[in-house]
Amino acid sequence: MTCTSSAPDDLLFRAEQGGCLSREEILELLSLNDAEHVEHLYRSADRVRAACVGEEVFLRGIIEFSNHCMNNCRYCGLRRDNRQAVRYRMDDDEILDLAEAIEDRGCGTVVLQSGEDLHYTRERMCAIISNIKARTGLAITLSIGQRPFDDYRAFRDAGADRYLLRHETANPELFAELCPGRSLEDRIQCLRWLKELDYEVGMGCMVGLPGQTAEDLADDVLLIRELGADMIGIGPFIPHEETPLKGSKAGDAGMVLRMLAVIRLVTRDTNIPSTTALGVLDGDSRMKAFKAGANVFMPVFTPQDCAKRYEIYPGKGDVKKADGAINDFREFFGAMGRPMGKGPGGRRKRP
Ligand code: 5AD
Ligand code: SF4
Repeated sequence: MTCTSSAPDDLLFRAEQGGCLSREEILELLSLNDAEHVEHLYRSADRVRAACVGEEVFLRGIIEFSNHCMNNCRYCGLRRDNRQAVRYRMDDDEILDLAEAIEDRGCGTVVLQSGEDLHYTRERMCAIISNIKARTGLAITLSIGQRPFDDYRAFRDAGADRYLLRHETANPELFAELCPGRSLEDRIQCLRWLKELDYEVGMGCMVGLPGQTAEDLADDVLLIRELGADMIGIGPFIPHEETPLKGSKAGDAGMVLRMLAVIRLVTRDTNIPSTTALGVLDGDSRMKAFKAGANVFMPVFTPQDCAKRYEIYPGKGDVKKADGAINDFREFFGAMGRPMGKGPGGRRKRP
């Protein structure tokens, strides 16, 4: 059967019904540029979101516990060669206290995020994970980069539930250019291991990377579908002054929203955050994302002095911290009739 469609509304209708979209059709949706059709795309994604994951917005509290990184990604302010970055590491007790604060504030999940920092060995991470599990009822999401299979297995055995590892771009040449010493193939291998270990797995990419095409973005959607991601984070590329990509153009907020909507249509019941990067690029879009497929909000619980040093891209350290951000969002969601999610809010519903 060939999947073709003449009018965007026909295509959207089929996408909303859960029809399998071809690469060309995904590209067509990503390329919509008249306001009316774009609005229809957002509304379709919003209806699929409501039908497949409901009205609740789930909160994930993030702790950025170390900004050391042994990698040298050309887009990222935490890259090894950025000598201007002031580095920090939190100790285990500090992480545990923050996890408790996250539970107290009503979040069901803690996200432990860092650069790739082997100072946190397998054993140390396992101790942190099992202590959080002993002290709280939180689901634990790790976001600490590429590790050997045995590390992933040990973290899972210690109690980790989910793992975020963005694939960054599905274009293997672009990946190799932007992440020196790394390959997309290895990244995908890690994602397959995480699936095998029964984590809920998060993927995602940046939009607007220098040299990235709309076709590359369609391939991102296909890769996300192929690997069966449970969570998908999409944000704009934002150039950082202390990286080789300084002076490049930032990604386009509209394209981020279209990606998010298309990914909701294709993946149906996944968890999709409105990302911090989208909010930094354009505050309105961070809210719009919740009307275009998003169902997750990730407040930052990293204390101010560390948060301002966790500068992956400029402006990241200035985002409102947990309490203020949660209050803002409570107001916004309340007005939209969207309740705060209760419990861990995983893709696999717990009995
Ligand atoms: N702009 C936007 N997002 C970035 N990331 C890294 N550098 C940038 C940047 N300059 C994203 C990557 C990474 C995540 C932690 O932050 O997708 O996986
Ligand atoms: Fe390190 Fe992640 Fe930044 Fe790459 S994107 S330099 S792995 S923190």
